Amino acid sequence: LYRQRLDTVYHAYVRRDPLSRLHSKPGRDNPYAIYDRVRAGGDLVATRLGNYVTASYRICDAVLRDRRFGVRSAEINGPGAPGDALDMSFLDRNPPEHTRLRRVAQPAFSPRAIAGYRPLIERTVDDLLDKALSGGTFDLVGSFAAPLPIAVITDLLGVPDADAARFAAHGAVIGGALDGIRSLRHAAQLQQASGALDAVLADLLALRRREPADDAVSRILAAEGDQIQSSEILPMCRLLLVAGFETTVNLIGNAVNALLDHPDQWAALRADPAGLAEKAVEETLRWDPPVQRTARTPSEEIEIGGRTVRPGQFVITLIGAANRDPSVFSRAGIFDIHREPEADHLAFSTGIHYCVGAPLARLEAAIALQRLAERVPDLRRAGPIRRRNATLIRGPISFPVHAGQ
Ligand code: HEM
Repeated sequence: LYRQRLDTVYHAYVRRDPLSRLHSKPGRDNPYAIYDRVRAGGDLVATRLGNYVTASYRICDAVLRDRRFGVRSAEINGPGAPGDALDMSFLDRNPPEHTRLRRVAQPAFSPRAIAGYRPLIERTVDDLLDKALSGGTFDLVGSFAAPLPIAVITDLLGVPDADAARFAAHGAVIGGALDGIRSLRHAAQLQQASGALDAVLADLLALRRREPADDAVSRILAAEGDQIQSSEILPMCRLLLVAGFETTVNLIGNAVNALLDHPDQWAALRADPAGLAEKAVEETLRWDPPVQRTARTPSEEIEIGGRTVRPGQFVITLIGAANRDPSVFSRAGIFDIHREPEADHLAFSTGIHYCVGAPLARLEAAIALQRLAERVPDLRRAGPIRRRNATLIRGPISFPVHAGQ
């Protein structure tokens, strides 16, 4: 994964590359203007390091579904090096490893398992709002959007309460690095955080080996043997933990940001929170998705979009651009929570890597928006948002708001 991400980021830094502008401040504020330029350049645009980038919905969808495309070259599909802190388990594997490992994780995210999380999510949302609303002003990210998914994923995995904050701190560094490694200092920070995260994960695994419980980690441990080797367990826990909270926080942040920027939409949600919260979540996923892109490389030469893509070359699929492709979505650039979309957005990808946690993320975000609209109808900004220093993951890192009145 990181080899690929590093590649993605590396060529993005090459001057005059179609993606290099994403790393500027205007690019971070509005990557969609840059995606439009990529789109104007054709279905597949060559990057200066010999890869391709696409803003086309149809090409993104086709590449992500095509079994001849994988997340990494076939020759490096084996197990990660032991102790590889950047190994993201099945997110980072092609079949057959992908199929085998995904099957181990999947039951924790079954519709029944996720529905069972509703009471915990509702309770957590209300507790967080009780605390946040006791003052007039609060940070929507730090006090609400971030702690919610952390509480849920640590519960799902079976992390004891006392460790949750430590997990969050280390996981945030790892999640931030999905964008690529910016400097040697950043690499050192990452190594330190991943070492610390691995130490707490190792403690958790030791605990659940001694005392299995009714949680995802215990179930993964029970599959140890043919289905999952011992060395593959820690990377899988790392993936579930980091994917569980580094993305949903941005979905909630991006949704509230969009709603406050569009007062008519916020008014509509306030008028019917239960009826419109899910639709507001879907429209945010389309219009401002937390994961902006992914990439695939083919196992054989493939003709697509009028180009030939060879093994080892990546097609960078711009999810954030595909979701605003005007040939698929009408009024594609307009944020409209009443929208009946013409196609499925690609915010959770598609094909075999389709996000395992999508139902959980949707449920958390819908409950968060519904309760916010019900309990804080006069919500307004108390200052500008600060964005993450990232281009792959998109969302605010701080978001000062007033509760109103
Ligand atoms: C995969 C997005 C929440 C677990 C993915 C992928 C995307 C994505 C785009 C596929 C990447 C690719 O095709 O290369 C999101 C977004 C989320 C979210 C936008 C929140 C709004 C979650 C949650 C979990 C989770 C809550 C649960 C722990 C995973 C896992 C994979 C994945 C395990 C790997 C699936 C595979 O490779 O087969 N996610 N995700 N995600 N996501 Fe999520």
